[in-house]
Amino acid sequence: MGTLITNGKVVTARETFIADVLVEGRAIAEVRAGIDPAGHTIVDAAGMLVLPGGIDVHTHLDMPFGGTTSADDYEWGTRAAAIGGTTTVIDFALQTIGKRMQEAYATWRKKAEGKACIDYALHMAVTDLGKDGAWIDDVDAMVREGITSFKIFMAYPGVLMVDDATIFELMQRTAQLGALVCVHAENGTVIDAIVHQALAAGKTGPLHHALTRPTVAEAEAVHRVVALSELAGAKVYIVHVSSEDAMREVEAARKRGLPVMGETCTQYLVLSIEDDMGKPGFEDAKYVFTPPLRERKNHAPLWEALRQDVLQVVSTDHCPFRFADQKTLGLGNFTKIPNGGPGVENRMQLIYHHGVNEGRMTLERFVEVTAEAPAKIFGMYPRKGVIAAGSDADLLIWDPQAEYTIEAVTQSMHTDYSIFEGFKVKGNVRQVFSRAELVVENGRFLGKVGRGEYLKRELGASV
Ligand code: URP
Ligand code: ZN
Ligand code: ZN
Repeated sequence: MGTLITNGKVVTARETFIADVLVEGRAIAEVRAGIDPAGHTIVDAAGMLVLPGGIDVHTHLDMPFGGTTSADDYEWGTRAAAIGGTTTVIDFALQTIGKRMQEAYATWRKKAEGKACIDYALHMAVTDLGKDGAWIDDVDAMVREGITSFKIFMAYPGVLMVDDATIFELMQRTAQLGALVCVHAENGTVIDAIVHQALAAGKTGPLHHALTRPTVAEAEAVHRVVALSELAGAKVYIVHVSSEDAMREVEAARKRGLPVMGETCTQYLVLSIEDDMGKPGFEDAKYVFTPPLRERKNHAPLWEALRQDVLQVVSTDHCPFRFADQKTLGLGNFTKIPNGGPGVENRMQLIYHHGVNEGRMTLERFVEVTAEAPAKIFGMYPRKGVIAAGSDADLLIWDPQAEYTIEAVTQSMHTDYSIFEGFKVKGNVRQVFSRAELVVENGRFLGKVGRGEYLKRELGASV
């Protein structure tokens, strides 16, 4: 016999309706009003929303970066994700320059083994295609392992950045295979020049991280990579679009009918230079991530881009570093501050509150940008991202009236601060089911550490 979620309002990307949800084994068996409750364990969801579990397609768990390693390993990061209502993450396996993609894949599977608390998949962050592209067939090998998206960096010269020829060659192969290229779009070499000028002028504090990475450098890279994708006939997904300037390039490409998609992240929708930076001392280092926070005037166009499907996804770019012993590596030189911030726990509640409650998106669009579109774009649909018979029973019982204040002292992420400290939200997750198992109730993780499974993804869709 199964679990029957009764009396709740079921939400999909298309509609909201009162129905019962019957869960049997790992999956959803039936969704309709009036399912006979006899013999089932009942979960009364009266007054609640029943949502598909969130999917965060942009996390960096246990990742060596900036002279240290991101503070959440797979246990900490995926437990915090679950507590916040995310039941699937796609993390980045990072290829070491000079080593094959297979090695990065094996390394990241090992990092997750025995630790992942929810299901996870991997993108491959490509840094090296070998001499004269000799390792290009690694792309095919990764697709066979269920890695159907490949990330490249146009930023971080000398560390992760690849040149345009490498991007183009990768795109030619992904185009043949039907795989996706994900892009960190910023003009890395021009930004480096601006950074050197700032340091030479004695501008060494954390605010200068933001001031040396102009929005036009983001927009230029989006424009260029769209052109490369058009040349190669490839589909492309722009990660962490942070500014109106960059978003307009995605919009222009989509208007031309190109298979260009994009995400923004929670922080670019609710934080800004004016509201959150310019703090005394070294405090601004908490907000050093890349792209940086932008001026507040970018918020409205980014929300509108989500509403109008110019951008399809909200992710977090969760890449946490502790303030006390990691961010401080950059005291006296902002270029040494590890880039990244914590957020995987707060995406669902912040987008619900500032999006749905404040009238910037419908409830259905909230489900679409946090679950359904990520599942479709990244080849997990309809197994994930939707409440329908046959789909994995990744479900949230969401209390639209619950009030919650975000605070570092109560969070589950492994950082000593929150970039959303003091934010008050209305609407929060009450129970989380991952493949039918109740893994979170009222903010407490009840599942077994290591229960999360690796998801071999199919090729995704262009949406
Ligand atoms: O600051 C960030 N975003 N760190 C993680 C790496 C990246 O650029 O996504
Ligand atoms: Zn990035
Ligand atoms: Zn990232």
